[in-house]
Amino acid sequence: MSESNRDHLALVTTLLILFQLYSIVSCNTSTSITRNNTIRDGDTLISEEGVFEFGFFSPKDSTLRYVGIWYKNIEPRTVVWVANRERPLSDHNGALKIADDGNLVIVNGQNNTVWSTDVPPKLNNTAAVLLETGDLVLSSDSDRDIRYWESFNNPTDTFLPGMRVRVNPSMGENRAFIPWRSENDPSPGRYSLGIDPMGAPEIVIWEGETRKWRSGPWDSVIFTGIPDMFRVTNYIYGFKLSAPPERDGSVYFTYVPSDSSDLLRFQISVDGAVEQFRWNKDINNWTLLQLKPSKECEKYNRCGNYSVCDESKEFDSGKCSCIDGFEPVNQNQWDNGDFSGGCKRRVPLNCSQSLREDEFRELRGMKLPDFGSVVSLSNSETCKDVCLRDCLCNAYAFVRGIGCMVWTRDLMDMERFEHGGQSINIRLAESELGGKENSKLWIIMLSVIGAFLLVLCIWILWKFKKRIKAILWRKKDFPVFKIEEKKDYSTKSSSSTIQVLVGDLVDTPDLPIFSFNSVASATGDFAEENKLGQGGFGSVYKGDFSGGREIAVKRLSGKSKQGLEEFKNEILLIAKLQHRNLVRLLGCCIENNEKMLLYEYMPNKSLDSFLFDENKRRSLDWRKRWDIIGGIARGLLYLHRDSRLKIIHRDLKASNILLDKEMNPKISDFGMARIFNYRQDQANTIRVVGTYGYMAPEYAMEGRFSEKSDVYSFGVLIMEIVSGIKNVSFRGSEHGNLIGYVWNLWSQGKTKELIDPTVKDTQDVNEAMRCIHVGMLCTQDSVIYRPNISSVLLMLESRMSHLPRPRQPTFHSFLNSGKILEGQDVATLNDITLTTVVGR
Ligand SMILES: *[C@@H]1O[C@H](CO)[C@@H](O)[C@H](O)[C@H]1NC(C)=O
Ligand SMILES: *[C@@H]1O[C@H](CO)[C@@H](O)[C@H](O)[C@H]1NC(C)=O
Ligand SMILES: *[C@@H]1O[C@H](CO)[C@@H](O)[C@H](O)[C@H]1NC(C)=O
Ligand SMILES: *[C@@H]1O[C@H](CO)[C@@H](O)[C@H](O)[C@H]1NC(C)=O
Ligand SMILES: *[C@@H]1O[C@H](CO)[C@@H](O)[C@H](O)[C@H]1NC(C)=O
Ligand SMILES: *[C@@H]1O[C@H](CO)[C@@H](O)[C@H](O)[C@H]1NC(C)=O
Ligand SMILES: *[C@@H]1O[C@H](CO)[C@@H](O)[C@H](O)[C@H]1NC(C)=O
Repeated sequence: MSESNRDHLALVTTLLILFQLYSIVSCNTSTSITRNNTIRDGDTLISEEGVFEFGFFSPKDSTLRYVGIWYKNIEPRTVVWVANRERPLSDHNGALKIADDGNLVIVNGQNNTVWSTDVPPKLNNTAAVLLETGDLVLSSDSDRDIRYWESFNNPTDTFLPGMRVRVNPSMGENRAFIPWRSENDPSPGRYSLGIDPMGAPEIVIWEGETRKWRSGPWDSVIFTGIPDMFRVTNYIYGFKLSAPPERDGSVYFTYVPSDSSDLLRFQISVDGAVEQFRWNKDINNWTLLQLKPSKECEKYNRCGNYSVCDESKEFDSGKCSCIDGFEPVNQNQWDNGDFSGGCKRRVPLNCSQSLREDEFRELRGMKLPDFGSVVSLSNSETCKDVCLRDCLCNAYAFVRGIGCMVWTRDLMDMERFEHGGQSINIRLAESELGGKENSKLWIIMLSVIGAFLLVLCIWILWKFKKRIKAILWRKKDFPVFKIEEKKDYSTKSSSSTIQVLVGDLVDTPDLPIFSFNSVASATGDFAEENKLGQGGFGSVYKGDFSGGREIAVKRLSGKSKQGLEEFKNEILLIAKLQHRNLVRLLGCCIENNEKMLLYEYMPNKSLDSFLFDENKRRSLDWRKRWDIIGGIARGLLYLHRDSRLKIIHRDLKASNILLDKEMNPKISDFGMARIFNYRQDQANTIRVVGTYGYMAPEYAMEGRFSEKSDVYSFGVLIMEIVSGIKNVSFRGSEHGNLIGYVWNLWSQGKTKELIDPTVKDTQDVNEAMRCIHVGMLCTQDSVIYRPNISSVLLMLESRMSHLPRPRQPTFHSFLNSGKILEGQDVATLNDITLTTVVGR
C-alpha cells in the first residue's frame, strides 16, 4: 500500500468515526414509543442490547422514507423488516406515534396516517418496544406480556431466529414472506415464500400463483427435498415444527441457532431464492450458507408429471426421464427437449377388477412428489393396503418422521438424489412388471429350477458339512486366517489337541479354543447362580477352571443367527487388541451349535451395576469416577488411534464398561465394532446398531458413523458417571434426555446440581464441572464441533486451558420422540442394544 493511500485510509477512518459520533449525539434514541413519546424521522428505537434498531431509512439510491428494522452495527444497512412498504414518505417530516385508538402509526407532515398496526378494538395505554430478537411489539404499557401486535407475525422478507411461521391446514398456505421488488424498492415483489401445510408441511416459493420451488415435506429433522441439510447440521438442527398443534389446529416453524451469539437470517431475495446468511465477525460481512434453487433439477416440476430429474445424469433428452412403466405424452416434444408435457402410463390401471392385479415398483433416493397426503394407519393395515384400496392412489411411501404418505394426484416434481432421499412405491398395472402370460410361465419355470437347486444345495451341505464349517470361518474380508493344530492348556479339556484359530493379519498370541465340555463343567453346566448377566446376543456366565482360574463366558444363544456375525467380528477384533482398559479375550468355543467367548473375569461386573444402584454407587467416590472416566478415554484412544487398527466401537455404554478388582474400567463387547482403514474417516451402514440414548444423531438418522460417534457415546457416559443418572430415565420428560437436562442446568448456571450428591463431600468440584463441560462438547449435534478422543483426554487432564463453549443440543428431543424407528416402538426397549434398518 502506498503512503498516500494509507493517509487516505486514515482520513476516511477518522471521518467515519466522527460521523458515527455525530450520529450518536444527534440522534435521540429511546427504548419505547408511548403516548408521550413520539419518534420523528432521525430518531430511532434501539433494542435492549443494541443489536437491532428501528426507525426511518431510505434504501440505497432512493430518497423515499420508509420505517423499518435493521441491525444496528452492521454496514451496509441490512434491513430485516419494513412497515410502510407500499406507502413511503417523500420527505423527512414523518413521525411514529401511538394514535388515540392505541395503535402504532406512521404519520406524515400533515398528520395523516400512512400506516397503522390496525389492531381493531380501542386500546388504552399501549407502548411499542423493540425486543432483542428484532421483534417490534405493541403491548400494554402496564403489562408488557400482553401483546396486541408483533412485527414477527407480520414479516416482510426475512425469517429471523425465534420467529414463528404459523400454518393452519384449515386455512391453507401461509405466504408469509414477500421479497422487495428490487434492491432499492421495498414494495412487494412477484415472488412469495411460505408454508404449504397440506400433508406434511413444506416450504414453497411461488411466482405469482405458480410454484417455483419446494423443500419437500418436513420429516422432523430435515426437509426431505434438501438431503444436503445434513451437511450443514450445525445450522439446521435448530429448525423445528411445533408439536402438537395448538387449540386452533395451527402449528408453527421456528429455528434457534445452536450458538445464540450467531446472527442468522433467512431471506427471500428479489429474484425469488431462499438464502441463509450468517454474520461473520472476522471478515465483517455476511456469509451465504445456502442458496435455493440453484440447480436445474430444483426448478419446480422441471421434467413434467411422472418424470424424474437427475442432476448427475445427462440422458439424450437432458436430465429428465420417465419413471418405469411410463412414456412421454408427446414423444416429439420430449425429443426436442421440451419436458413440460410430462409422461403418462403405458398401461392404464384397471381398478374395477380384483385389487390384486396392481403392483408397485420402488424408486429409491427420491425427492417425494408434491401433494401427498399423510394417512394414519390402523393396527393391521400397511401403507400399501391403504394405497391399493383407493383406485386413485398412484403411489405410497413410508417416511421416517412422517409416516404413511399416499398420492392420489399426478406425481409431480420428482428428483433423484445422489445421496439421501426417500423411497417411494409407484403403482403399476401388473403387466408392467413382466407381462401377464409370460410371467405365469416364468413363475412355473423358476419354481422348478428353484426346487431343483434347493435339493442340490441340501445334498451338498449334507455331504460337505465339515468342510463348509471350516470355510465359514474364512470370511472374505479376512482371508488371512489359517487353521492350526495346538495343544490345549485348559486342564479339563477332553481331547489333547484341538484346532486353534490364528490371525496373522497382526501377530497375536494364539487364541485357545476350549471344548464345550470343559466350559460346561467350569460353569456348573451353565447354572443359573453362575449367570452374570444377559447381553444383547446371549448370556454371560462365571466359570471356575481348576487352579482357581476364573473366567467369564459369553454364550451366544444357539438360535440367534444374528449373533454369528457379531461373534466372528468380536473374535477377530479383540484377539488383536491388548490394552489395560480393554477386556481381554482368553479363548473361545465353537462346537455343535454353541458359540462362546471366554474373557478374563471381572469381579466387579459392569459400571452400570454400580452407577445406577442406590447403595453401590456410594462406593464410587469422586477419585474412582475420575479414574474410570480417564481409563475409558484411554481405552478409546487406543481403539481409535494407537492400536495398529482403527476401530470404531459403536456400542459404548455403561453396561459395556467392566470393572476389575481395583475398579479399573475395561471396555468390552466388540460385537458391533468396525475396523477402519487409516485414511478412512467415516462409513455408512444400512444396519444401524447401537443403544438408544447413546447413539449420535448422524448415526441414528443416517447410519453415518465415525470416531466422533463413539465420542458422542463417551460424552453421554461421562454425564452418567458424574451425575449417577441414567440417560434413558428422562424419556418423556420435558428435557428429552440427560443431554437436554444438562444443557438446561448449564445455561442456568446450575451445573453443580448435576453432580451426584453421594460424592459431593469428597470430590474436587472443578474436576467434575470440567468433566460435564467436556461431556457437553462431546455430545454436540454437529460432528464438526465434537472433539476427537485425543483432544478429549487433553481437555480432561490439563486443568488450565480454556474450554470452548458447547453448542445447544437440539437433536435429542427428536430422538426422544421415537420417530426414527419405522414401525418399531422404541419406548418399550429399555437400555438394550437395538438393531434397526435405516431406509435410504
Ligand atoms: C432530541 O430531543 C430533544 C428533547 O426531547 C429535542 O429538543 C431535540 O430536538 C431532539 N433532537 C433530535 C435530533 O431530534
Ligand atoms: C404522559 O404525560 C401525562 C401528562 O403529561 C402523564 O400524566 C402520564 O403519566 C404520562 N404517561 C406516561 C406513560 O409517561
Ligand atoms: C399534528 O398534531 C400535533 C398534535 O397532535 C399538533 O401539535 C401539530 O400542530 C399537528 N400538525 C399539523 C400540521 O396539523
Ligand atoms: C379502555 O378504557 C375504556 C374506558 O376506560 C374501557 O371501557 C375499555 O374497555 C378499555 N379498553 C381496553 C382494551 O382495555
Ligand atoms: C460481502 O459479501 C458480498 C457477497 O456475499 C460481496 O458482494 C460484498 O462485496 C462483500 N462486502 C464486503 C465489504 O466485503
Ligand atoms: C378392466 O377389467 C375388467 C375385468 O377384467 C374388463 O372387463 C374391463 O374391460 C377392463 N377395463 C379396462 C379399461 O381395461
Ligand atoms: C400434471 O399434473 C397436475 C396435477 O394433477 C395437473 O394439474 C396438470 O395438468 C398435469 N400436467 C400435464 C401437462 O398434464
